[in-house]
Amino acid sequence: MSQQFQHDVLVIGSGAAGLSLALNLPAHLRIAVLSKGELANGSTFWAQGGVAAVLDDTDTVQSHVEDTLNAGGGLCHEDAVRYTVEHSREAIQWLIDQGVPFTRDEQAGVDERGFEFHLTREGGHSHRRIIHAADATGAAIFTTLLEQARQRPNIELLEQRVAVDLITERRLGQAGERCLGAYVLNRASGEVDTFGARFTALATGGAAKVYLYTSNPDGACGDGIAMAWRAGCRVANLEFNQFHPTCLYHPQAKSFLITEALRGEGALLKLPNGERFMPRFDPRAELAPRDIVARAIDHEMKRLGVDCVYLDISHKPAEFVKSHFPTVYERCLTFGIDITTQPIPVVPAAHYTCGGVMVDDHGQTDVPGLYAIGETSFTGLHGANRMASNSLLECFVYGRSAAADILARLDSVAMPQALPCWDASQVTDSDEDVIIAHNWDELRRFMWDYVGIVRTSKRLQRAQHRVRLLLDEIDEFYSNYKVSRDLIELRNLAQVAELMIRSAMQRKESRGLHYTLDYPDMLPEALDTILRPPTYAD
Ligand code: FAD
Ligand code: SIN
Repeated sequence: MSQQFQHDVLVIGSGAAGLSLALNLPAHLRIAVLSKGELANGSTFWAQGGVAAVLDDTDTVQSHVEDTLNAGGGLCHEDAVRYTVEHSREAIQWLIDQGVPFTRDEQAGVDERGFEFHLTREGGHSHRRIIHAADATGAAIFTTLLEQARQRPNIELLEQRVAVDLITERRLGQAGERCLGAYVLNRASGEVDTFGARFTALATGGAAKVYLYTSNPDGACGDGIAMAWRAGCRVANLEFNQFHPTCLYHPQAKSFLITEALRGEGALLKLPNGERFMPRFDPRAELAPRDIVARAIDHEMKRLGVDCVYLDISHKPAEFVKSHFPTVYERCLTFGIDITTQPIPVVPAAHYTCGGVMVDDHGQTDVPGLYAIGETSFTGLHGANRMASNSLLECFVYGRSAAADILARLDSVAMPQALPCWDASQVTDSDEDVIIAHNWDELRRFMWDYVGIVRTSKRLQRAQHRVRLLLDEIDEFYSNYKVSRDLIELRNLAQVAELMIRSAMQRKESRGLHYTLDYPDMLPEALDTILRPPTYAD
């Protein structure tokens, strides 16, 4: 039997964004935090490098703002950048207050402000400004925030719950546009439950799983972006998919990232013959923004016909490498690579979705009562290329501001009443799961081949043709069979792929992460690619 639930706030997603929102809401509110697998299954847990913030005395808000604008290829919204950076120090203080064990600076000790943490560097940053917990920052943050959430009786943490679609007044044929909650598949019971809520937040992470090779965990399927689109929200800049330059290249290493902080601490990119190549592409060499480094690697791999390039930190003292990068060291060792003596084989892989659901500076979407925070959202911060370690910062800053906005509106919003149950009367159990598996592989492969680091109009047209056929097939499947996690994810992934391709086709220039051989130059005016769904209410 399907069930009905009511909460003041429904948070879909248990990563940095979702947990920050939940923990910043007052204790008298009933909050549900959903995760479609285990609670730790988002990208947050895997973050390595750290969180960018203005924390050093020699650093300034202006400098962090300028670096972000430069990395963003002229497309960042300066107000969003300034807003985020100005709130960076308090966001980090909040994390420290929650108990996140950031790495201390043993050499420098405590400064006159009482600040005692080590700051590292990453591409695009002109200062040391990345606070981190060795090279496993995400795990440290996630574990701490989860522990805090577990101690709060008003927060229900619900695993194995896959949000299928949002419930809105418009969908129910009622007057108004408000979001009233979501239909959620309970993977244990197989039933789709109804979650009514005064406020709903999408904190579902990115969509990098749309590509064959990705640094992201399996759930990064753009569910929130697709659900918001179907509910009537605009999306923006989905053509900007960030490829992380350095993922471990090894047949048994699935999606393992080699943090950019290695380059921040002096690691060099080399060709198979040992030659360093980044200085040929950019004066900042290994510390150029990611779009430039990933494209340079892609270019060299194609030019030489090689399967990977190499990242070398073996010239640094072994103790330094092991103490700063224990996770990378141990993981590489399991594949027989000792990074203190050997270079690491690396390739670029899809890493971060810069575009997303359009929101204001409180994370409020176009649909009243619906928020989007973290990687799912488009705040304007990242422009055409996200600067390293700005994304976790965005999760905390917007998680906190969305909480403040909800609090301010609380008294004016009542609990939705009598929501209809999910209608499963017309569907049966699927006997053709092979179709889902096949479509899933096909989608991810053509996105990699046709909508990857270097694009052409012809490749994009092919991808668009293929994705439209897939969407038709998936729609038919969805109308006839019971929903499963795989089907929900495939439906969302295909929808987001279609939006990505459409956005890429609209951009007749090369800028930041969007590089096309047919329009290699940048246009004088920087404009966002904004897509409006058929249900968008002006
Ligand atoms: P996530 O942490 O991805 O969480 C998404 C949540 O949504 C999960 O709980 C998932 O179960 C849930 N969910 C999704 N769909 C549904 C659904 N339909 N129903 C229910 N629940 C759903 N950024 C930095 O700033 N610094 C770094 O050092 C850094 N390193 C990274 C390293 C790696 C390997 C990766 C992959 C990313 C890294 N990033 C880094 C990016 C950063 O980690 C992510 O952008 C950020 O963690 C996203 O947080 P989030 O809360 O938005 O989503
Ligand atoms: C990394 O550690 O290289 C990832 C940082 C990020 O994606 O911001």
